[in-house]
Amino acid sequence: MKKIAVFTSGGDSPGMNACIRAVVRTAIYHNLEVVGIMHGYEGMIRNEFIPLGSKSVANIIQRGGTVLKTARSKKFLTIEGRQKAVENLTKHEIEGIVAIGGDGTFRGALELSKMCAVPIVCCPGTIDNDLVGTDFTIGYDTAINTVVEAVDKIRDTAESHDRLFFVEVMGRDAGLIALRSGIGVGAECILMPETKTDIEDLIKRLESGRKSKSSKIIIVAEGDEAGGAFKIAEQVKKRLPDYDTRVTILGHIQRGGNPSAMDRVNSSRIGFSAVEALMAGKRTVMIGIINKAISYTPLENAVKHTQNLDPDLMRMLDILSL
Ligand code: F6P
Repeated sequence: MKKIAVFTSGGDSPGMNACIRAVVRTAIYHNLEVVGIMHGYEGMIRNEFIPLGSKSVANIIQRGGTVLKTARSKKFLTIEGRQKAVENLTKHEIEGIVAIGGDGTFRGALELSKMCAVPIVCCPGTIDNDLVGTDFTIGYDTAINTVVEAVDKIRDTAESHDRLFFVEVMGRDAGLIALRSGIGVGAECILMPETKTDIEDLIKRLESGRKSKSSKIIIVAEGDEAGGAFKIAEQVKKRLPDYDTRVTILGHIQRGGNPSAMDRVNSSRIGFSAVEALMAGKRTVMIGIINKAISYTPLENAVKHTQNLDPDLMRMLDILSL
């Protein structure tokens, strides 16, 4: 193997730059040439290949976002798009690929591998933590810290006004951002798609804990099956009109910011291991970290979204909230 490519795709996440840096520097250490593909699969189709050296990844470990830019490519979903991408990979004599992204990126990698012999390994870059085969995805730790910081501020004003706040967090169809950040802020309730949301039950819980606390924070995962924070707050307000209720949608601030120390270290380990995995002949696997050790999960399994909620965490949550 003489030349590899690295790209980021899908939603950006803090730590992607640390991962790119690790890929580039590990490759150079092993005498491999490295190119970056700008804008993910879109840039692969548009022939946006740029040479990367050790210096081009200096001073990026601490930066959020991705210096290689990213996109959710519609063209890559078409056979013509993928053919063009394969043509460009061949033209640039790419012999190995490191893709950094979430499940959409991995599905793209599986499709690409059906049309092209170039081995591809993936790094789990998403704030959602919804991939099988790693304890924490790149960006998840930073995102939950961002949520905790924001909700701590909301708690100050909620407490001063004796208010009930519904705070909606990201996660697409997974509730893992809601779960950990909710525990971290001492939320009175956490609503997630993985557990059934029963409005009657929520009302009972709010009523039973009413006397003991003046402010209440309900964390709502954006993918909760009962609807978003606004819809749920509306239903609760009808039943408990004397509560002074507010809704905050945290939105894209959860995707930005400097990566936490944990994200920087994990991303570096994952990027480093991705290059060594390619050199060892691995293909179509996701590099993860399970119980502190590097793990290799076939992409077909990594995208399965079956990260179950930890039953110990759930039991604790029940006892510590309200
Ligand atoms: O997958 C990361 C994520 O931030 C999800 O939590 C969220 O649902 C989605 O991306 C938002 O995507 P976009 O930035 O394209 O609106």
